[in-house]
Amino acid sequence: MTRVYTLVNQKGGVGKTTSAINLGAYLGVYGQRVLLVDLDPQANATSCLGIDKRSVRTGMYEVLIGAAPASPHILHNPRYKLSLLPSSPALAGAEVELIEVEHRETRLRDALAPVMDRYDYILIDCPPSLNILTVNGLVSALNGVLVPVQCEYLALEGLGQLTQTIQRVQKSLYRDLKLRGVILTMYDSRTRLSSDVVAEVRKYFPGQVFDSLIPRSVRLAEAPSYGQPISTYAPESHAAQAYDALAREVLVQDGIPTPAFETTR
Ligand SMILES: Nc1ncnc2c1ncn2[C@@H]1O[C@H](COP(=O)(O)OP(=O)(O)OP(=O)(O)O)[C@@H](O)[C@H]1O
Ligand SMILES: [Mg+2]
Repeated sequence: MTRVYTLVNQKGGVGKTTSAINLGAYLGVYGQRVLLVDLDPQANATSCLGIDKRSVRTGMYEVLIGAAPASPHILHNPRYKLSLLPSSPALAGAEVELIEVEHRETRLRDALAPVMDRYDYILIDCPPSLNILTVNGLVSALNGVLVPVQCEYLALEGLGQLTQTIQRVQKSLYRDLKLRGVILTMYDSRTRLSSDVVAEVRKYFPGQVFDSLIPRSVRLAEAPSYGQPISTYAPESHAAQAYDALAREVLVQDGIPTPAFETTR
């Protein structure tokens, strides 16, 4: 069974891409076949995995506008056990071009359908907006939405708007869309603010926040410049352990056995 999760938060820089890559990498470490879908014209997920976004001749843009199927354009990196449907700056054009197109909200879901069976997990990395690209991401989120929230002042700001968008998509496009979980990112254990935010977010989303707190980590910020996930760049770091724990939480909740879970906790 393939599980499809979409990482969304219209706030910029909260850790959507970092979480998509590193959660994906650790799901791969646990033997899952993972496809990362870069749905952002910034193409950060593509760049962070060491691919020059300007070199992407055919990617998310062509797939969304129907000029190409997804399958031949998926890149596989055996070292990180991650596959990637890359993006490029051209994707910015899709927003305008899709206005005229029929079924514009289900383009991504339709495009992924033929490749679904090849993966255990598909993680879709959205841009920081609630535009047609993100709506495509939401409609494709067959098993729910993952919302990274940065542990900082005004962390909850904008989440009402996101909830409204999710409700609108539920009403008109995908009735079963649900929140899969909130990922707390850039947690700083030295600050009172971070622990206040954790408490506040847990109160706002009772029972829906993952236990694993992703720490603020220089190693995590550095890894993309080496084109690597944290699982290979700095596997001993706290940040790596946190994404490892997050992956195990996801697997356990999804009913997938993870032998290391008992031994490392
Ligand atoms: N836990 C962390 N500790 C330190 N730096 C982090 C952490 N998580 C992410 N970053 C850094 O913060 C910046 C924003 O992170 P990221 O790109 O993952 O956010 P995003 O939500 O995808 O942003 P955008 O909305 O622009 O797509 C990046 O430079 C990233 O390397
Ligand atoms: Mg991003």
